Amino acid sequence: MTVCSAPGKVYLFGEHAVVYGEPAVPCAIERRARVTVEPRSDDHVRVAAEDLSLDGFTVEYDGSTETQPDVDVDQSLVSAATGYVDAAVRQAREAADAPNAGFDITVESDIPLGAGLGSSAAVVVAGIDAATRALGEPIDRREIARRAYRAEYEVQDGQASRADTFCSAMGGAVRVEGDDCTTIETPNLPLVVGFDGGAGDTGKLVGGVRELKESYDFAANTVESIGDIVREGEALLAKADPEADPGPELLAELGGLMNFNHGLLSALGVSARSLDAMVWAARNAGAHGAKLTGAGGGGCIVALDPTPETETALSFTQGCVDAFRAELAIDGVRVEAT
Ligand code: MEV
Repeated sequence: MTVCSAPGKVYLFGEHAVVYGEPAVPCAIERRARVTVEPRSDDHVRVAAEDLSLDGFTVEYDGSTETQPDVDVDQSLVSAATGYVDAAVRQAREAADAPNAGFDITVESDIPLGAGLGSSAAVVVAGIDAATRALGEPIDRREIARRAYRAEYEVQDGQASRADTFCSAMGGAVRVEGDDCTTIETPNLPLVVGFDGGAGDTGKLVGGVRELKESYDFAANTVESIGDIVREGEALLAKADPEADPGPELLAELGGLMNFNHGLLSALGVSARSLDAMVWAARNAGAHGAKLTGAGGGGCIVALDPTPETETALSFTQGCVDAFRAELAIDGVRVEAT
């Protein structure tokens, strides 16, 4: 039995625009997906999923991913959760040169599904690491990130950047621009997350932005402007002392850029009433800045506030079902047990 875990993430800046080659800065947070893998003697894959913001379920199907599992829950929910596991299995089989390897897989996660915190990337990253290790063919974190990106790309019909998977594999804060992925140093930012209990459809939301961008120059310019915000933000982070607590000036500047970034995402049609309500609750509570994180449409916002005020305000905001302080996850993917 091999157990690996990988963190979720929030976007400080740059989601959506990163799909079109602009830079983005996501930060891994201490909410993790854990994947347990036990090799089988046949080529079947059995997936048990718990805590995925859906009722737990167990499915078993043969090695061919064309066969739909026969289960007693809504097929679209099963596809959403197992699609990523399937893709991770394909990558692990290929990496280990074991095309017929079968596995019993258990997925546990404290990252809500589809809520902008990188749940699918964390499951794929932890799954590839656990499955290749279980086959005695471990691969390094950059290779896990590369394969996890291919898995997401496949499941999301080619509409994925490397940001979520690279961040989850490496941990900490990262910068992604096209194929260029690097880890960066940041001070320990006081991140607060608000969750509306919902989820957005990443494929649809990315498709909507693509359509706008292709129809209107001003939408294409908006995507480029998000890239400009990211460049400003990363310059601020590069000047800061990663060992020191970020002072109010740095937080105010970063927060201002986050507010601007949220406005542009909103203009691109990926915010939602619940996300805007949480963003404004955070700002009114004194947060330095707040924005939606991830694909949008529902899910989570991230705010910068070293005081408890934003978390408290969010917990009293109508439509917010969970508010929590998110610590930066220093570790990316890691082995929990073998
Ligand atoms: C989704 O978490 C982030 C998006 O930028 C898509 C991607 O980068 O793959 C919307």
